[in-house]
Amino acid sequence: MQTILNVAKVFVRPGNQKNQLIRQIASLNALPETHQMLQKTCRDFANAELVPQAAKHDREHSYPEKQINKMGALGLMGITIPEELGGAGLDYLAYSIAMEEISRGCASAGVIMSVNNSLYLGPLYAFGTQNQKETWITPYTNGEKIGCFALSEPGNGSDAGAASTTAIEKNDRYVLNGTKMWITNGFEAGAAIVFATTNKSLKHKGISAFIVPKGLNGFTVGKKEDKLGIRASSTCQLIFEDCEIPKENMLGQPGYGFKIAMQTLDAGRIGIASQSLGIAQASLELATDYAQKRNSFGKPISKFQIIQQKLADMAVSVESARLLTWRASWLKDNKYIYTKEAAMAKLAASEAATFCAHQCIQVLGGMGYVSDMAAERYYRDARITEIYEGTSEIQRLVIAGQVLKELAVN
Ligand code: CAA
Repeated sequence: MQTILNVAKVFVRPGNQKNQLIRQIASLNALPETHQMLQKTCRDFANAELVPQAAKHDREHSYPEKQINKMGALGLMGITIPEELGGAGLDYLAYSIAMEEISRGCASAGVIMSVNNSLYLGPLYAFGTQNQKETWITPYTNGEKIGCFALSEPGNGSDAGAASTTAIEKNDRYVLNGTKMWITNGFEAGAAIVFATTNKSLKHKGISAFIVPKGLNGFTVGKKEDKLGIRASSTCQLIFEDCEIPKENMLGQPGYGFKIAMQTLDAGRIGIASQSLGIAQASLELATDYAQKRNSFGKPISKFQIIQQKLADMAVSVESARLLTWRASWLKDNKYIYTKEAAMAKLAASEAATFCAHQCIQVLGGMGYVSDMAAERYYRDARITEIYEGTSEIQRLVIAGQVLKELAVN
């Protein structure tokens, strides 16, 4: 498969385009050329293929299948997976940049991509056996099949260690019983990483991770949720009733599931931070464009300091969150512990997204409130980024926990 890196080399020509690119996102100037080319390729793709369709998919609550297939062909559905397993073989910084650009065009396509990359392929690559990798990674890198991650339950969201879905050993199989909830990609996914307890009395140490394909007896998909935003991505329940899975479908060691979930979410939070950046950047660009075109009191509203102040505050929030996100990616790429930095990135970027989307509507006034323009979609899409993959409250808890450890008074 032609990777995004090869595509980027073909797409980008030196000269004016590069200057334009640097002007759009100032800090990109400091990145390696590969990443600048990747950003340009993803931005062009998003402008051509995602922006024109995003409102329709949002309105119809429909999965953007054609677009996801094309993203798969570009290598965007398995960015950090090595090429020999079907991925693009790029680093996490590249993933973050691509995620931002895709989400700037369509935040639903962004979350579909993020869940497949970080929550499904991520733990398979980190903890899978060679056989599991070949079976469950490669077919999920080209956009034709996508995966999902099933941790939350009706009775457990933030308290992820309280999983009550059970996995009981029976001969050469595990029997799953329970219901998973809020599962992004759940409707279309061909397989799920499911967290279930083999011994509830051990609390989080009793949880293991399992690879569960669709189509097994006793595995059904519940209703698709009708959501405020990211409406082109599915969110549903996964229901397990005496669902038997082969023992070799356990991912990682028995009882290690909670740690797999936590490590996976550390990486996933960089993905959601990047999705948030895309929404925030889109809001900033729309507000800036509108402010220069809309006349009031005899001049463009961009001439008024009150509007300039809004644009400045938006720009600072996006840029500072972007630097936190890239820093977390860099730490991950260089094998440092990055739990705190990923939580900081997600917290700052999701708050930047909700802030910028709010301010964008304020700059557009009535035009921001109607669906003729994208501002109201950005506002609805932004809201979930402060909730999924750990609420803002949980991010603060994670950050404070690390700060208290780092600065412990003996
Ligand atoms: N990496 C590795 N291990 C970790 C870890 C990390 N980031 N965080 C915690 N652990 C380990 C601890 O070291 C500890 O290990 P030991 O038992 O060996 O000592 C163990 O896990 C338990 O740690 P805690 O006592 O800190 O765990 P806790 O029960 O207090 O929970 C929490 C901590 C941060 C609140 C965690 O439960 C959490 O992150 N909750 C939020 C869950 C979440 O993000 N859910 C979103 C689901 S995915 C989604 O959104 C759906 C989608 O499709 C997009």
